[in-house]
Amino acid sequence: MALRSALINVMAAASHKAARGLLRDFGEVEQLQVSKKGPADFVTAADIRAERIMLDELARARPNYGSLSEEGGITEGRESTRRWLVDPLDGTTNYLHGVPHFCISIGLEEDGQIVAGTIYDPLRNEMFWAEKGTGAYLNDRRLRVSARGELQDAIVATGVPHHGRPGHEPFLEQLSAVMKEVSGIRRLGSAALDLAYVAAGRYEGYWEAGLSPWDLAAGIIIVREAGGFVSDLSGGDTMLRSGDVIAANDSLHRQFVSVIGA
Ligand code: 2AM
Ligand code: CA
Repeated sequence: MALRSALINVMAAASHKAARGLLRDFGEVEQLQVSKKGPADFVTAADIRAERIMLDELARARPNYGSLSEEGGITEGRESTRRWLVDPLDGTTNYLHGVPHFCISIGLEEDGQIVAGTIYDPLRNEMFWAEKGTGAYLNDRRLRVSARGELQDAIVATGVPHHGRPGHEPFLEQLSAVMKEVSGIRRLGSAALDLAYVAAGRYEGYWEAGLSPWDLAAGIIIVREAGGFVSDLSGGDTMLRSGDVIAANDSLHRQFVSVIGA
């Protein structure tokens, strides 16, 4: 049985509170699909509401911390060394189309290092969480990355850069190299859940480029605390600055980096 710290309880409570509105609004999205314009404005409003709820909850519990979030940008805290990295709705495109795969992600950065993270999937009631030095968990169960040690047995996830995002050509090269080596590739549309699934041993690996710090922060610590490795595309540690990430279990990370080979 996992004993959650006060910090993790704060992060989980903020996630649960925002999840209530997101779930209610997700039910509405299906009704709105039929209109030509679709539910885009409605989803933007739901996203902003969820973020407001989370930032308020987090600020109430830790009034001196700063924050960086998708809609709100940077809020400086009195404690300049600590800030939340908040993604109230990761998998927005899924949510917008009524596809049931999205989550709420919170990372805590201390002196530039991620020290705690929560990723909450409200549809499955799965809370992935980790704190530096104390392991990674799914609800109350300790997580460990997959033990599969051969790329040919591996399932890996990725994100496909779409219209308006750069990097189409390099992605096609990476895809071409990876698909020759692995058992299967998945593209589910939430970077945070992709990382959580690596931590849970569901995927052996995951790579994506062009992400934002709030997409990655929580997942980085959760994968590492589950015994996995996270790096940028060349094996370095610039993920939060570059937005590029390769995560994998301990036995496959080095091979995976050399296949993607940036
Ligand atoms: P989001 O749902 O919060 O936008 C999909 O490949 C992943 O990329 C999602 O986690 C998505 O997060 C993230 N992402 C980051 N920037 C994006 C963008 N400009 N457009 C679409 N997805 C983006
Ligand atoms: Ca995101």
